[in-house]
Amino acid sequence: MRYRALFFCICVFFLVPLQRKQHNYKILNYMRHISPSLLAADFGNLQRECEMINNSSAEYLHIDVMDGVFVPNISFGFPVMKAVSKHCNKPLDVHLMITHPEKYVERFCDAGAWSVGFHIEAVDDPMPAIELIRNKGVRTCLTINPKTDIHALDPYLGEVDMVLLMSVEAGYGGQSFIEESIDRLRYLRKAIDQRGLSTLIEVDGGINTKNAPLVWEAGADILVAGSAVFQAKDPIATINLLKGNN
Ligand code: DX5
Ligand code: ZN
Repeated sequence: MRYRALFFCICVFFLVPLQRKQHNYKILNYMRHISPSLLAADFGNLQRECEMINNSSAEYLHIDVMDGVFVPNISFGFPVMKAVSKHCNKPLDVHLMITHPEKYVERFCDAGAWSVGFHIEAVDDPMPAIELIRNKGVRTCLTINPKTDIHALDPYLGEVDMVLLMSVEAGYGGQSFIEESIDRLRYLRKAIDQRGLSTLIEVDGGINTKNAPLVWEAGADILVAGSAVFQAKDPIATINLLKGNN
C-alpha cells in the first residue's frame, strides 16, 4: 500500500509537469490559426459572410484567386477582393492560382492583402515574385500542389514567411483531403524546425473537424477550411472545433 502511494507521488511530481511542458511547447511553436476560404461562401451575401468571420475566432480570411489557365476554374479577382476588404476586419490571406503571378502580385498587395502566395508550379524561378511581394511589405507565401516533389520547396524555406501545402489538387473547393499530405507536412515541419526557421506552414484543402487534429499534430500552423466552415449549420462553432476548442 505504502509503495503504491509512493508510486502515485512520483507520477504527480515528475510526469504531470513534464506533460504540461510538452503541451506549452506545442502551443508556443505552432499557432493553430484558422483561415476560412471565401470560395465556399454565399457570394450573394458576401457582406453577411464577412461579418460572420469578423465575429468568429478565425484569424484570417483565405482568398482563392483562379484564372482558368493555371487551374481549370475561374473564381474572382480584384473588385471582389476590394469589396471584401471593406467589410472584413481579419487579415486577407491571398492564394493565387494563376499563371505569371509576377504580373499581378503587387496589385493584390495594394488591394489589401496581408499575405500573398503563388504556386511554385507557375514559375521557373519564384524569387522575382517573392521580392515584389516583400518590397510591398506584405508576407510572402510559396504554394505547392500535391503531385509536385516536396523537395522543390527546400531552397525557398528560408526565403518566405509561409509555405502553403495543398492537400487537394488546386482548382476546386469541396474535395477530399489527400492522406499522403500528412507525410509531406511532417517533412516540411522537420525541415523548417531543423534549420531553425520561423516559416509558417499552412495546409489547404479538404480540412474538416475530423481530420484537423491529425493535421495539427503533424505540424501545421494554419488550416484553411472552405466547405467545412461555410456549409456548417454553425460556422462560428465549427471554427472553434477546428482549433480544438469546444
Ligand atoms: C482549392 C482552394 C482551397 C479550397 C478549400 O483550390 O485553394 O482553398 O477552397 O476548400 P475546401 O475546404 O472545401 O476543400
Ligand atoms: Zn486556397
